Amino acid sequence: MQTALDGHTAIVTGAGAGIGRATASLFSDRGATVVGLDINSEPHDGGPHFDDLVESGELVVGDVSDPDSVDELFDICREYDDPSIVVNNAGIGSRGTIEEIDLKMWRKMYSIHVEGAYHVCRRAIPKMTDRGDGRIVNMASVGALVPYRESADYASAKGALISMTRQLAGDYSEHGIRVNAVAPGIIRPDLEKADLEGKSAEELGEQARLVSATNRTLLPYIGKPEDVAEAVAFLCSDAARFITAQTLPVDGGWSI
Ligand SMILES: NC(=O)c1ccc[n+]([C@@H]2O[C@H](COP(=O)([O-])OP(=O)(O)OC[C@H]3O[C@@H](n4cnc5c(N)ncnc54)[C@H](O)[C@@H]3O)[C@@H](O)[C@H]2O)c1
Repeated sequence: MQTALDGHTAIVTGAGAGIGRATASLFSDRGATVVGLDINSEPHDGGPHFDDLVESGELVVGDVSDPDSVDELFDICREYDDPSIVVNNAGIGSRGTIEEIDLKMWRKMYSIHVEGAYHVCRRAIPKMTDRGDGRIVNMASVGALVPYRESADYASAKGALISMTRQLAGDYSEHGIRVNAVAPGIIRPDLEKADLEGKSAEELGEQARLVSATNRTLLPYIGKPEDVAEAVAFLCSDAARFITAQTLPVDGGWSI
């Protein structure tokens, strides 16, 4: 099966919840060993724990923006094998106009999304190069592709990740390393479009901005972490052997 991941060891950051956990779980189902990194030892969303989903591998607790944490992640990963797959998924959201986003928040956004991917890639790529095989997926966002209001820090950090994806693909394709990005749209495990309909802005609160986003989405439903995980697993598999430097929107048609 070309989508099988047997024999691969994968690092997935932000693997304790949401999209990262769904990816770790699917990778495990497809035969990979998965070493996850998450800043939280327990899932923040009350969902299942990584350990209950992943057969071979473990969840390392650490901060992807901290080089020492990433060193520890690689030390633990090497007890299984050097990673042949990396998914730079750890991330946080934010909300505000550029006048409202202070420098601390701006830097935090870049240190997690952009520097985090930098820390992981520069440790993973040498062994991938030796092996002549590596598959990297960076978790971008539809916010990097279309205007998404009041998210200049988040969207521009995701835009940097897309640029980094293309540059690394250019630098390492000849060494057998494929680098792609996935750009999710609105992904909510426990929310359906019907939950947003017929409610006042007051009732919706923070969810109000999801209404305009889902109205711009062609498909009449909200995406789930598993929808993104399928795209990531495909890009990391042999089935995608001729795909590199691409950004695949998983957004129900929002960014078209
Ligand atoms: N959910 C969406 O609608 C959506 C849309 C576009 C892009 N994304 C991106 O997908 C990725 C995953 O998002 P999600 O919706 O699953 O979010 P989530 O909050 O459910 O999961 C993110 C995980 O990353 C972990 N994390 C946060 N900061 C970390 C750090 N410094 N070091 C290590 N781990 C850290 C969190 O603890 C959490 O378990 C993020 O990069 C996000 O920007 C999500």
